[in-house]
Formats: sequence, C-alpha cells, structure tokens
Amino acid sequence: MEQREHWGSHMGFIFAAAGSAVGLGNIWKFPYITGENGGGAFVIVYLLCILITGLPVMLAEFTIGRRSQRNPVGAFRAIKPKSKFIIGGYLGVLAGFVILSFYSVVGGWTLGYTIKAITTGFAGLGTVEKTSLVYKNFVGDPRNAIFYHMLFMFINIFIVYQGVKKGIEKWTKILMPMIFIILLVLIIKALSMEGAMDGVRFYLTPDFSKLTGNSILIALGHAFFSLSLGMGAMITYGSYLSKKENLFKSALSVSMIDTGIALFAGLAIFPAVFAMGFAPDSGPGLVFHILPAMFSKMTFGFFWGFLFFLLLAIAAITSGISLLEVVTSYFIDELKFSRRAATVIFGVAIFLLGIPSALSFGALADFKLWNLTFFQIADNLGSNYLLPLGGLLISIFVGWVWGTKHAVDEIRHGSHNFADVHLISLMAGLKDDPSHNSDVHVLTLASLWGIFLRFISPVAITIAFLFTIGAIKL
Ligand code: TRP
Repeated sequence: MEQREHWGSHMGFIFAAAGSAVGLGNIWKFPYITGENGGGAFVIVYLLCILITGLPVMLAEFTIGRRSQRNPVGAFRAIKPKSKFIIGGYLGVLAGFVILSFYSVVGGWTLGYTIKAITTGFAGLGTVEKTSLVYKNFVGDPRNAIFYHMLFMFINIFIVYQGVKKGIEKWTKILMPMIFIILLVLIIKALSMEGAMDGVRFYLTPDFSKLTGNSILIALGHAFFSLSLGMGAMITYGSYLSKKENLFKSALSVSMIDTGIALFAGLAIFPAVFAMGFAPDSGPGLVFHILPAMFSKMTFGFFWGFLFFLLLAIAAITSGISLLEVVTSYFIDELKFSRRAATVIFGVAIFLLGIPSALSFGALADFKLWNLTFFQIADNLGSNYLLPLGGLLISIFVGWVWGTKHAVDEIRHGSHNFADVHLISLMAGLKDDPSHNSDVHVLTLASLWGIFLRFISPVAITIAFLFTIGAIKL
C-alpha cells in the first residue's frame, strides 16, 4: 500500500492547523461579541471555554487522526470497526460540503473587496448609508457573487490539488506569516490614531454586568467553531502526522495561536473605528459597511482597506482548504479516488452547491424555506447542527467507546521525556508507567483529560447546542 503523505515539518503542521482555525470567525465575529459581552470579562470566559471544551476535543481529534492515519470516516472505522459512531465521520464529510459551500461565498466577497479597495479605495463612500448600498449591490449582483465564489473555490482547489506537503503545507507556510505581519501592521496603525483608546476601552474594559448566562453560551459555541472542531478537520490534519509529533503540545499551540489572533483582531479594528468616529456593529455590518466607510475617510485608506480585506481573504482561504481537504481525503481513502480527481470533482461540486447560497442576497433572496434563505439554511445546518453533533460524537467516541486510556497510549508517542505525557497520563486516570518514577496513584483518579472529554465537553456542547437552536435561554 502506498505510504500516507506526512507533513514535512512540525511548523508546517502547526501552521496548517492554525490556518484552519484562524478564519472569518476570528476576525469578524470574535471582536464584536467580545465588545458586546463585557470586554475583558468575556475574554476570561472565552479562555475558559477554550480550555475546558476546545483543547480536550482538539486533542481527541488529533489523536484519532494520527492513530488511524485516515479521513474522519476511515478513522472511526479503523479504531472501532462496526461502531455506529462512524456516523460522526459521515457527518463530518457532509459538514465539509455544507460549510465550505457558504463559507466560500463570504470568502469570495472578501476577495472582491480586496480588489475593490485597491481599485476604488472606496472613494466617496464616507458614510455607512453609501457603503451599505454598495454592499447590497455587490452581493446582490449574481455575476459578482458567482464569480468571486468561483474564484475562492478555484484557489482552494488549486492548493489542495497539489497535495498535503506541496500544497497545503507549502501555502499555509507562506500565508500564515502574512496574517501575522498584516495584523501587526494594522494594529500599530490603529493604535496610533487619535482617539484610539476609546476603542480599546469599548473592546476590553471588563464589564461584568454585561456578562450574562447567554454570553457564556455564546463563548462556548464560538470557541468550538473558531477551533474548527466537530467535523474532523483536525482528524484529517492529524492523520498526516507522524508518531514523532507531540499531540498535546500541538493542540495547545494551535489553540493559543487561534485565540491570540482573535484577540489581536479586535485591536486592529475598534481603535480605528472609534478614532474615525464610527459606532461598532457586528459581522457583515462591521466588515462590509462600517470599515469601508472608515477607509474611505482615512488618508491612504485604499492601502489600509486593501491590507484589511487581504487579511480576511487569506484567513478564509487557509480555513477553506481544511474544509475541502476533509472531503477530498474521504474520497481518496475510502473510494480510491486520485487526489487530483477528488479535489477537482468535489471542489466543483461544492462550488455548485454554493451557487444558491451565493444568489441568496439577490436573485434568490425571496426563495425561502422555513423562512430562511438558502445561505442561512446552509450556515445553520453546518454551524449550528452538524458541528455540535459531530463534536459530541467525537468526544463520546474517544472518551467512552475507544476509551481515554487507549487514546493516551497514542498520545504517548512523541511525548517521551516531556512532563506533559506524565500529566496527560494522570489526566486520563492511567497509573503512571512503573518504569517512570511514580508515586501518583492518588492522582490516578484525578483523570483530568478523561473527565473533560467524558463529562464536561459533552455536557457543555449539548448545552451550547440547545442554546444556539433557541431551545434554552439563560
Ligand atoms: N475556524 C474557522 C473560523 O474561525 C471556520 C472553520 C474552518 C471551521 N474550518 C472549519 C469550523 C471546520 C468548523 C470546522 O472561521
């Protein structure tokens, strides 16, 4: 059998996985929900959510990926043949299709706005009324919407087509440092503007009165989405790991990079928004209405606008390729497609599936099911249903079906001589190897990772899920 392709270096893997995690969620969603939900107070809650559900589930995904050396479906099957949990793998591949189909539409807009910034500089669009109109016309024009969606998918296909090492790794190694540099430049610029501190205050001043039960659930759901968990993206990337890699440290690095970028994104946005006298808003409103109006009024605004939208586009691309890779790897492993054929065929299929989403802001705006446009259905189905369900299945599968003890056996590879394997063994409730020095039986019960994965993560995911679908409110 052909040897499975592996990452060429530790950094290559970290960049690829962090590239998957760092996406539109970090830049257009996190800063705003933070500002709205009590600033610094919310950040603390978010960090806790990353720690108690994000990190354990990411480690679980890396572990089944590396153990099985398979796509999500193959991974479940290789670890527990005939287990019904394989449905978690299928849901992951389905989620890859569904999420990428609408993610690519928004990714396409960011490409379009990058070009707009450089060609027009948003000249003469100094008010939000004007920019909202431009936005409406832009996303409502079927030719634009489909063209940029196609361009975005083309870039993703182009990268994934070239393989794990020569495509995904090579490109994320170029693109991730670009994200760091552009973000740094934008932060320096934003903080140096007059009145910047008002923005920093809005963003970070801890206000516990704004931190409600709902904020906590928002943090929980977002932590999950932001780390690209619940659909096997991290299983797939983990499947290209060798036994040398330290899984716990990798999960920690990826979570830290993702959280760091999200935090810093707010520092690039709010100081500038406040300094230019605009009021903050959320999501598309912030990114496509307020920011272009702001750039229009700034000196060299075309340049700053170009950098900002380029940042968004790059972040979206490195996430998009991880979604496409889940689908591609499934067809390569399970149905014996060649990489090239799988990438092109299913990349095009996702493009086609995304067309109704692309048209949801114009030609198909009135075409609704359950009062939702096609775009909203894809977004809802993917982000609010498939991901939590997948995450739940993954944590129960590793925590209960396969068992954290077996999982820790896998984690141990690559962790020799590190204090953390000792720690994880304890966390999983394993008696430490007698060959290691150990007087730890007391702690064996303090199986932290096991506890998180078996009890805390599933419960937290379920509660966050019930909250997002509106079944509960705190
Ligand atoms: N994490 C990405 C973001 O923050 C979104 C994303 C990319 C994603 N790939 C994923 C979410 C896989 C869940 C699963 O924008």
